[in-house]
Amino acid sequence: MVERFKPIRFSRAGVRGLKVSATLAINDRVQDMWSAGQNVYHLAFGESRFPVHPKVAAALRAHVQKRSYLPALGIPELRRAIAEYHQTKFDLDVTPEQVVVGPGAKSLIFASLLALGEEVIIPQPSWVSYAPQAHLLAKPATFVPTRPEANFELELDVLETRMQESRQNWGNPEVFIVNSPKNPTGTMMHPEKVEALAGFARENELMVLSDEVYSLMTFGGVPHISIAHFYPEGTIVFGGLSKNLPLGGWRFGTAILPPGTGGRALAHAIGNIASNIWTCVTAPVQYAALVAYSGDPEVEEYIDLCARMHSIRTRFLFQTMVHLGIPCVEPAGAFYLFPSFQKWKEPLAARGVHTDDDLALHLLERYEIATLPGSAFHSAQELCLRISSSYIDAATDERADALLVAFREDPDPERFVQHHHPRLLKVAERFGEFIKDLERESGESGRRPDLAVI
Ligand SMILES: Cc1ncc(COP(=O)(O)O)c(C=O)c1O
Repeated sequence: MVERFKPIRFSRAGVRGLKVSATLAINDRVQDMWSAGQNVYHLAFGESRFPVHPKVAAALRAHVQKRSYLPALGIPELRRAIAEYHQTKFDLDVTPEQVVVGPGAKSLIFASLLALGEEVIIPQPSWVSYAPQAHLLAKPATFVPTRPEANFELELDVLETRMQESRQNWGNPEVFIVNSPKNPTGTMMHPEKVEALAGFARENELMVLSDEVYSLMTFGGVPHISIAHFYPEGTIVFGGLSKNLPLGGWRFGTAILPPGTGGRALAHAIGNIASNIWTCVTAPVQYAALVAYSGDPEVEEYIDLCARMHSIRTRFLFQTMVHLGIPCVEPAGAFYLFPSFQKWKEPLAARGVHTDDDLALHLLERYEIATLPGSAFHSAQELCLRISSSYIDAATDERADALLVAFREDPDPERFVQHHHPRLLKVAERFGEFIKDLERESGESGRRPDLAVI
């Protein structure tokens, strides 16, 4: 029953069925602990913390007087620059008319969902906002589970089965969300899988929303190939500046629409939505984005540098999981890990920990480690957590700036961790204590090798 506060009465879309997320519960708890002066190792935020590149910052300052409304889909010179950038970086044939900019990839995904079909296919686990966005738009979602044994990649037979069930229950799925590199697992789709999914989507006439916001943050040797490469007529590619350049708060995202008349109709629809909701991306940000997409070698070198720092920090946490015997699929991009604690189900149950929500709260309260429960990502596996390496030892701007200076002076991965990441080292110890406690309690205690770096 939804509570009523006269004269505030909530709409169905806004309230019905939307649960208070575990993400919020954890973040509230972290805030309480911080306010009480308690220590927290924050592995729950997924935000790149490194400084704004000086050239991009200068461009923003230089355009502070740009105060007029701009075209809803973006200024023409920016759409041209983004098209060229996608051609050079991702070998995608993109014309400026296919490019749309918006206040973050998140808003553009929402606008696309609003503009397109009804039933939506969403992988499990996947980024926290896809399912709520489908819910807000009253679109039925078909969840397709993925398995750690299969690198959390979509498997065509599972996809086919879920599609058939969906056809019986709801109707024909029309929109298909994919994401690589993936939040929450840090895994990437292999190029053959991308091609196979493109074939599947074409055969089933699915419109693919391909979330590629982490495409410039790869480190596992798997090349990033957009599904638009194989299925341009049925794919929208989402990107932006929140992850590769650490500008999440600037709210700048991109969508590359399909070519041809269908794409033009879609641009028209998204333009209508944009002009009636957010009008345009903040004017100075659009001009600053021109520099970000100019292909300037210094900016490109910086994107690469940030990706390398994220990779070292993420891989250190992955090595920690491996050395502690915590099952975890090896990440290849972004800054996330998705370990499973299922093998300690019994000692965890003895501690009153039955779900991954319980587990995230328990780790926070007993070991001062903040993570997010797999449930926030609609995980199909139990007792999983999403761990982000992005915040630790970079919680303040000063700390993040100092990391960049240190890495420029000495990019050796081991020394970068050992000399500049006291809290990352500490968090590895804390996980070690947690696992040791669980093993002792389950009577399986045994020595683990010492932690090695990278
Ligand atoms: C997979 C994924 N897509 C989209 C976004 C949001 O991007 P933006 O900041 O451009 O809205 C995030 C942010 O965490 C994300 O992890």
